[in-house]
Amino acid sequence: MNFDLTEDQIAIRDAARDFAENEIAPSAIERDKNAEFPKDIVKKLGELGFLGMMVSPEWNGAGMDTISYVLAVEEISKVDASVGVIMSVNNSLVCYGIEKWGSDEQRNKYLKPLASGEKLGAFCLSEPEAGSDATQQKTTAVKEGDYYVLNGMKNWITNGISADYYFMQAVTNPEVGYKGISTFIVEKNWDGIELGVKEDKLGIRSSDTCSIGLNNVKVPVENLLGEEGLGFKFAMETLNGGRIGIAAQALGIAGASYEAAVKYSKQRKAFGKPIAGLQAIQFKLADMAVKLESAKLLTLKAAYKKDIGEKYIKEAAMAKLMASKVAVENSLEAIQVHGGYGYVREYLVERYLRDSKITEIYEGTSEIQRIVIARELLKA
Ligand code: CAA
Repeated sequence: MNFDLTEDQIAIRDAARDFAENEIAPSAIERDKNAEFPKDIVKKLGELGFLGMMVSPEWNGAGMDTISYVLAVEEISKVDASVGVIMSVNNSLVCYGIEKWGSDEQRNKYLKPLASGEKLGAFCLSEPEAGSDATQQKTTAVKEGDYYVLNGMKNWITNGISADYYFMQAVTNPEVGYKGISTFIVEKNWDGIELGVKEDKLGIRSSDTCSIGLNNVKVPVENLLGEEGLGFKFAMETLNGGRIGIAAQALGIAGASYEAAVKYSKQRKAFGKPIAGLQAIQFKLADMAVKLESAKLLTLKAAYKKDIGEKYIKEAAMAKLMASKVAVENSLEAIQVHGGYGYVREYLVERYLRDSKITEIYEGTSEIQRIVIARELLKA
């Protein structure tokens, strides 16, 4: 077993780290405070190839592997988890699906600008009454000549306001349950798209999240992705890869929390010495490091299995379950190490805690990950 990263993977990780520290960090606090979308940063991420990392160069992507993608999302999220999720959604939930199931016409028209970062995408599955139970989607798509007419409501859409293209799930055949769900590529500026207000969130405040109403939206038949009824499979398979992206985002938050705790404990003096010399703090630092390493190994394993073409459903769910748990735990411990200073905005760790919680919720809650893992285990 070889745990070494390749030269290319190291180069990508370092490039992401440089970009995060030099271009993302300076505005992260203000953007969080003002819930401001990082428009210029996203544009630069696209120019650097970070928005279509795993897409083939034929479709304007960077042609990298999933391990490189994990390393890049982790580095970016270490500095700003909001930018991490914007990037993760575009790579995992948008580019992956259209590259895999789209026609060449769709790839030319939509994937190329999405992979190069010229356009941004969003994945629209959740509804007011269909989140964890994704089979219960009620948005309808009725075929009328050369168009499908879409009606319904989508909720909690990451990149909802800033995206140009939506990958929209809708029911084309209500008679056959989840096998009647299909996916459509919908452009934001089409008639009948009604954006809800930007959600005022606890964390990842610099990414935008909103609901999207569909009121008789006419979608040309050529914008159906794959065939009718593919939608649930599209969503489930896409989410498997998405869970690796969210695990990487969580690793970034967990790692930033750990590093902040180490740094602070070396500076802060109490009982006559830096608090890093106290066993009470050393136990915390050791636990944080062990958890971080465990989550990282699970995430890299899931990415590796995806890269070599093996089934990775269980591994992706394990990675997300563990990394999101560690993100929450490490950010809480980082606050504890900082004491009162950790509880104020001047120190970064309170943002890490606020940003961490969503990783246990989106792209399947921790409870859903356990269901996915258990089902895979019981199949064996
Ligand atoms: N990978 C591939 N296929 C899967 C799958 C997976 N992880 N999970 C289920 N499937 C397939 C099954 O094999 C089955 O297919 P067949 O009929 O061909 O055999 C089909 O899907 C139905 O599966 P189940 O009978 O297991 O369905 P279920 O309703 O009992 O449970 C679930 C499915 C695992 C709970 C699923 O609904 C799920 O993952 N829910 C969570 C959805 C989710 O992640 N929502 C988040 C929204 S997106 C988001 O957060 C994006 C963002 O903005 C950041």
